[in-house]
Amino acid sequence: MLGRVRRWFFTIVIIGTTSVAAFADDWGMGASNAKIPPSSVFQAVSTPAQQINTVAFFVLSITAVIFLIVAGLLTYSIVRFRARSGDDGREPPQVYGSNPIEFAWTTVPVLIVFVLFLTTARVIYVVQARAQPPGALSVRVIGHQWWWEFRYPVLGIATANELHVPVSDLATPAPTFLDLESADVAHSFWVPRLAGKTDVIPNKKNTMWIDPHVPGTYLGQCAEFCGTEHAMMLLRVVVESRTDFDKWVATQKQPPKVDPTVARGRQVFESTACVNCHTVQGTGADGRFGPDLTHLMARETIGSGVAMNTRDHLRIWVANPSVMKPGALMPAMGLDNQDLDALIDYLVTLR
Ligand code: CUA
Repeated sequence: MLGRVRRWFFTIVIIGTTSVAAFADDWGMGASNAKIPPSSVFQAVSTPAQQINTVAFFVLSITAVIFLIVAGLLTYSIVRFRARSGDDGREPPQVYGSNPIEFAWTTVPVLIVFVLFLTTARVIYVVQARAQPPGALSVRVIGHQWWWEFRYPVLGIATANELHVPVSDLATPAPTFLDLESADVAHSFWVPRLAGKTDVIPNKKNTMWIDPHVPGTYLGQCAEFCGTEHAMMLLRVVVESRTDFDKWVATQKQPPKVDPTVARGRQVFESTACVNCHTVQGTGADGRFGPDLTHLMARETIGSGVAMNTRDHLRIWVANPSVMKPGALMPAMGLDNQDLDALIDYLVTLR
C-alpha cells in the first residue's frame, strides 16, 4: 500500500514538474539556441579542443577494449559454469598464489595507466606551451556572479557575455589569447567546441587560447558552481570573418549617438543607481560592477544568456531582474511605469 502511494506521489511530481518546465517562459532562448549546433566536445573546431578530442578517443578505445575483454570473460563464465541439475554441490578446486597470473594483472594495468598518463600530459603540455605570437588578439575575461566581462585592451573596447573573435584558418592563422580573472568567486570558462575548461580564480590570472577554424556561434557556460545563478552564467563566442570582425570592432569603438528624442530616458538613467554599476561611454555612467551598456543592443541576449535581447524582455529585466534570474545581483530599481518606459526607450538606442 505504502509502496503504491509513494509510486503515485513520484509520478505526479515528475509529470507535474515536467509540464511546468515545458510551459515556463524561456524568453526565446530555446528557439535561438536550437539554431546553434549543440556544444559537443566531439565536434571540435579549434586546435585545443581537437587535441583533447584525440586523447579522448584514444582513452575511450583503450577502455572499450578492456570493457569488451572483461565483460566477455564474465559472460562466458556465467554461461559456461552455470549451475546445472545433477551438480554435486561441492566447491570447484581453488587456485591460490599463481605467480604468472599475479604478475600479469599487476603489470599490464600499470603499463596502461602509464601510457594514458603520458599521452594526456603530452597534450596538456602541447596546448599550454603555445606562446602568444606578436599581433595576436588578446582578450581579458573577467568572471562575475553571474556574467562574463570581455575587455579588448589593445582595441580599447569592452562587452559582456558574447565574445567576438576572428576566424583562424590555415591561410590566415589568427589565434585569440585569453587572460582570465575573477571579480568574486571561482568560476570556470568553458566553450566545449573551442577548448577545455579553464578555472577563473580570484587573485590569479590564468591563460588559454583558441583558434576557431569555422565561423559561427558557439555556446559555452560557467563550469564551476559559483552560487545561485551558476546555471545561468552562459556565454556565446561569435566567430567571424576578418572583415565582419573588423566591422564589429569599428562599431564598438564608436560612442553611442546622442538621440534627443530619448533625452528623458537618458536623464532617468543618469539620475538613478544604474550609473554606479554600468558604463555608457559619453555619459557620467562608469560603473564596473555590471556589464558595459555602451552597445547593449549589439548583443543578442541579456542577463548572460537568460533572455533574448528584445525591448519587451529588457523592460521585464529592468523592472525586476529576479523575475528572469532569481538571485541576480542587479536590484529592482522600483521605477514607475513612465520612467521605466522612458529608460527602455533610451536603452534600445544604445547600438
Ligand atoms: Cu560562474 Cu558557475
